[in-house]
Amino acid sequence: MNTSAGPAAPSITVTGVTGLPEVEAGADLARLIADAVPDLADGDILVITSKIVSKAEGRVIRSARERAIDAETIRVVARRGTTRIVETRHGLVLAAAGVDSSNTPPGTVVLLPEDPDGSARRLRKALRDRLGARIGVIITDTLGRPWRNGQADAAIGAAGVVPLRDYRGQPDTFGMTLEVTVAAVADEIAAATDLVKAKTSRIPVAIVRGLADLVTDADGPGGQALIRPPAEDMFRFGSSDVLAARRTVREFTTAPVDPAAVRRAIAAAITAPAPHHSTPWRFAVLESERARVALLDDMLAAWITDLRGDGFTPEQIARRTRRGEPLRRAPLLIVPCLHAEAAHTYPDQRRNASEREMFVVAMGAAVQNLLVGLAVEGLGSCWVSSTMFCRQTTRRALGLPDDWDPMGAVGVGYPAAPAPDRPPRDPGAFMVTR
Ligand SMILES: Cc1cc2nc3c(=O)[nH]c(=O)nc-3n(C[C@H](O)[C@H](O)[C@H](O)COP(=O)(O)O)c2cc1C
Repeated sequence: MNTSAGPAAPSITVTGVTGLPEVEAGADLARLIADAVPDLADGDILVITSKIVSKAEGRVIRSARERAIDAETIRVVARRGTTRIVETRHGLVLAAAGVDSSNTPPGTVVLLPEDPDGSARRLRKALRDRLGARIGVIITDTLGRPWRNGQADAAIGAAGVVPLRDYRGQPDTFGMTLEVTVAAVADEIAAATDLVKAKTSRIPVAIVRGLADLVTDADGPGGQALIRPPAEDMFRFGSSDVLAARRTVREFTTAPVDPAAVRRAIAAAITAPAPHHSTPWRFAVLESERARVALLDDMLAAWITDLRGDGFTPEQIARRTRRGEPLRRAPLLIVPCLHAEAAHTYPDQRRNASEREMFVVAMGAAVQNLLVGLAVEGLGSCWVSSTMFCRQTTRRALGLPDDWDPMGAVGVGYPAAPAPDRPPRDPGAFMVTR
């Protein structure tokens, strides 16, 4: 027996709702639920699986499953075999875009509700109109978790329920301030109810009692609040879209670049393949404006000298060199340099040229890694060739050793605008198979 005088230990109940008929397009879910649970009361949370919401909303379509997934997908995050983890228009990242071909007639698939938060709001209002109860509504779907085995239900839509309980700034039991704890309470409720509304038992709805403090008058931010904004997503790019995330960026914001992010990108660069087990990559990082301007001014002078030598008139030279220079607009520059001391020497020119090319392509591999590493950090980049055409000038401006061979320059910064879309390229057009 509890003899202490403290508050009663909290407890909640989760009850599956039985007796609901098979739901079809156009079904009045509020009526069906009100009939099955006439004692819905203030503070109750109604949790409903998205599948029957979709069915009621006519989101069952006749389609091949793969075609339906294509239509629901805005981004393929990862792929293995036929399994695709994708981002949907709602911002959810889940397998097969939530398209389900189970528990639906052969040849048809069930799509997720068009707007799960909207569905939750409508259902809440309709139930309040019928029963007068101030309840919360959560719409669930079953999601895999990238680093955990097994699936669990999560809240993809909500109304009248606090989706996140923010403990940041509050003291823990030892008086230390909690720094990061934000409980995903709507997901926790969704997962708890899956224990009673398991898919095989035809119980698509459950009622949670004992969490009235999470039920609000207003519909609130809904399930959207549980979707992590891209800028805060440390795993923004999956294995399928990380390479496409690198695009040439020529306009940057003035936001400074974190040197630690550059170091991490260089750490990625120096994992590139290279001949003879060598590590032929070096990087001059130009953080200071003084160093950048000095280099770019010297390069401009060298370019003008070349153009004069080509016989261009002063007007023609002025026109050419006036063209927008992305490196001038970048808040940081990296000059990748080839250091090919491990290259072998042959008695003939042919093999010496091949040897040199081996090292140059290894430099290309490292720079690609660098650019992808920068993209993962949210940084845009533009690799331009100019230092390759004035290597001695570049070495002198930066005080680099004679055996560092500049291989262009990379402008780095936060993109001022997203890169324009590019039509997908067909690998078949770039390959032969023998
Ligand atoms: C070795 C090399 C040199 C390049 N030089 C320049 C350059 O001088 N100026 C420029 O604006 N872009 C330069 N680029 C970037 C290409 O124009 C860019 O990669 C191309 O337009 C494809 O766009 P994406 O990088 O967004 O896929 C260069 C790229 C490479 C690999």
